Amino acid sequence: MTKTRATITAVGHWVPEERLTNADFEKMVDTTDEWIRTRTGIVERRILRNGATSDLAANAIQETLKNRGISAAEIDLIIVATVTPDMFFPSTACLVQDRIGAKNAWGFDVSAACSGFPFALVTGAQFIETGTCRKVVVVGADKMSSITDYTDRNNCILFGDAGAAVLLEPSADSSAGILDHILHCDGSGERFLNMHGGGSLNPPTHETVDKKMHYIFQDGKAVFKVAVVGMADVSAEIMERNNLAGKDVDWLVPHQANLRIIDATAGRMGLDRSKVMINIDKYGNTTAATIPLCLSEWWQSGKLKKGQTIVMASFGAGWTWGAVLMKWTAEDAR
Ligand code: UT7
Repeated sequence: MTKTRATITAVGHWVPEERLTNADFEKMVDTTDEWIRTRTGIVERRILRNGATSDLAANAIQETLKNRGISAAEIDLIIVATVTPDMFFPSTACLVQDRIGAKNAWGFDVSAACSGFPFALVTGAQFIETGTCRKVVVVGADKMSSITDYTDRNNCILFGDAGAAVLLEPSADSSAGILDHILHCDGSGERFLNMHGGGSLNPPTHETVDKKMHYIFQDGKAVFKVAVVGMADVSAEIMERNNLAGKDVDWLVPHQANLRIIDATAGRMGLDRSKVMINIDKYGNTTAATIPLCLSEWWQSGKLKKGQTIVMASFGAGWTWGAVLMKWTAEDAR
């Protein structure tokens, strides 16, 4: 019996209009455009002033449904990857379900920080592969500006807000769609990248606010060292175990945290920069949204085409990291 595979049949994204440029940061903290560009590759990011993560997610899903030509009522399951849910509960998936009128869907959130999209994608794929669902929406959305300390130059220049979604459906071709994945987590990395305030460990108090515990904490150098090896290793591993060389991969779709990490991963995979999706310059690190945001932009511009082989790769807080291999099957953009 041939295996039913899950495949992405549509993609869409939404970003807020407002931009925060490196020049803006020069006025806010002790930094320079030159430092930010050379250390990170970032030039500007989008900021959502009014609204929440559910708005980013709902708009991205609506774009995706439009691109596929289906209504929200056809969705069976909504999975939202985010570390900036609108609230602890109900889940952002519930809020989005109501907002878009997905009256036949159930849903839940996945928390895996910068690896949220691959984790949610692989989770969603299981429901397709087992025949439980026929249409699963996976959305990565984060309003990182809601947990960013804009007086901390180490971190505030890194993050932006965005939402991007994909639709998963069964593939008619068992050699296409999501072909393989390698996912990991290692909680010993918790101390290097976290947000300690607000949860059951440190419920909100005046003290947690005074100590800025509701903002992202990151030891950038320590994270860099582990991320640059972890993302490259897992990408090389998924290629090796599928007998793929650089020439067999059309696109690397990396999490956009730092251009130097992306370059190291591409180098390890034997890929030229021309085969790497990079938009960190325009959006910064949008956490769970980075990978689907790349997919959506590259599909929209006609560069990501049906039949192409892609490797997605991520590394983030947890630690969480992984790679997903897939053959792209969505109809080309018109
Ligand atoms: O997405 C989840 C996973 N996250 C990542 O993968 C992020 C990984 N880490 C990184 O991308 C990089 O470590 C950063 C971009 C966060 C920082 O780059 P770095 O090259 O590791 O810089 P650094 O932290 O070692 O800082 C170097 C210097 C320091 O000054 P001293 O101690 O050498 O005098 C910092 O204080 O740069 C200083 N610095 C800045 N200078 C100007 C830190 N932030 C800034 C800034 N502008 N915004």
